[in-house]
Amino acid sequence: MSTLLITGGCGFIGSNFIRHLLHSDPSVSVINFDSLTYAGNLANLTDVSSHPLYTFVKGDITNREQVRAAMGRGVTDVIHFAAESHVDRSIQDSGPFVRTNVIGTQILLDAAREFGVKKYVQVSTDEVYGSLGADGFFTEETPLHPNSPYSASKAGADLLVQAYQHTFDLPAVITRCSNNYGPYQFPEKLIPLFVTNLLRDEPVPVYGDGQQVRDWIHVLDHCTGVEAAWRQGKPGEVYNFGGRCEKTNLDLTHLLLDLLGKPQTLIRYVKDRPGHDRRYAIDCTKAERELGWSPAWTFDRGIRDTIHWYQENEAWVTGIKNKDYLSYYESQYGHFS
Ligand code: NAD
Ligand code: TYD
Repeated sequence: MSTLLITGGCGFIGSNFIRHLLHSDPSVSVINFDSLTYAGNLANLTDVSSHPLYTFVKGDITNREQVRAAMGRGVTDVIHFAAESHVDRSIQDSGPFVRTNVIGTQILLDAAREFGVKKYVQVSTDEVYGSLGADGFFTEETPLHPNSPYSASKAGADLLVQAYQHTFDLPAVITRCSNNYGPYQFPEKLIPLFVTNLLRDEPVPVYGDGQQVRDWIHVLDHCTGVEAAWRQGKPGEVYNFGGRCEKTNLDLTHLLLDLLGKPQTLIRYVKDRPGHDRRYAIDCTKAERELGWSPAWTFDRGIRDTIHWYQENEAWVTGIKNKDYLSYYESQYGHFS
C-alpha cells in the first residue's frame, strides 16, 4: 500500500491526477497538500472528496512545519505538482514564483529525505529548455535555458532535485511536459480563457503576431506519464512528455472559433508578452521507450471534449470569473487539516 503526498492537488493537473489515481488503483491512498492559492479550487475534486482513500490537508510547501506534519501521516512517496504556474503573472511579480517553486521545492526535498520516501516525482515543464527555432525538438539532453521568471524558477527547482538525488541519493525523477489542456484548467491560460470568452461572445487576446508554436497534450495523457514516471522511472532520470501536436496560437484560435461557431471579428491582436518564447516542441521517445507510455488522446477528440466540459460546467467557470470561490470555501469549511 502506497501513501502519496500530492502537492498542488487542487490545481488543474493535480486534480486530474488525483481523480485518475483514485479511480484506477485501490491500493493507493492520497494526501492532497495544497495551500489554495487563487489557482487552487476544492470544487475541482468535489466528486472524490469523500473517497475513503482521499485526505485533503490545507498547507503551504514553504512552511516547513506544515510539510513535516503532512509527511508524518505515513507518506511513502511524493508527487510534487504545487507551483505558481502562469508566465504572465511571473512577469508582473516573480516573488511568489521564487518562494513557492524554488524554496517550496527545497523544503519538500528536505522532508522527503528526512522521512525516507521511496520515490519523489518533480513535475516540471518543457519551458525550462527555453525556446526553439523553426526546427528541432527538446530532448532530455537539451541544456536548460529558461527565459521567463516562471521557467527560471522551475529550472532552479529541477537543479535542486538533481542535486539532492546526486548528493543524498534521494530516489527522485523529473518529468517535463509540454502545454496541457483539458477540464478544470484555470481560465487564465490560452485554451480555457479563449473557450470561456468565446462562449460568452467576448473577444480573445492574441499576443503579438500569434505565430508562436506550442505542443499541446491532453491533461490525462500527462497524468498517465507522471504515473508511469512514479511507478517505473529510474532515480536520477528526466522524462519528457508531449502530445506531438504543434500548433501556432493563431491556428488554434481559428480552430476554436470554428468549433464554437464564432466570428473572426472576436480576435484582438494585443501587445506581445515580453520575452515571449517562440516555439516549444517535445521529443518524447525516451518516455515511450523506457516507460511504455504514449499519448492516447488525439487533439481533435481532446479539444471537443474540453469545449464540451466548459459548456457543461458554467457554474465552475462563473465561480472563478467572479473570484468568489475562495471566500466561499473558507466560509464553508474554515481551515483544513
Ligand atoms: P495550477 O496553477 O493550476 O495549480 C497549482 C496548484 O498548486 C494550486 O492548487 C495551488 O493552490 C497550489 N499551490 C501553489 N502554491 C502553493 C504552495 N506554496 N503550497 C501548496 N500549494 C500551492 O497549475 P497546473 O497547471 O496544474 O500545473 C501543475 C504543475 O505542472 C506545475 O508544477 C507546473 O509547473 C507543471 N506543468 C504545467 C503545465 C501546464 O500546461 N499547465 C505543463 C507542464 C508542467
Ligand atoms: P499560456 O496558456 O499562458 O501557456 P505558456 O505561456 O506557458 O505556453 O499561453 C500559451 C500561448 O498562448 C503562449 O504563446 C502565449 C499565448 N497567449 C495569447 O496569445 N493570449 C493569451 O491571452 C494567453 C493567456 C496566452
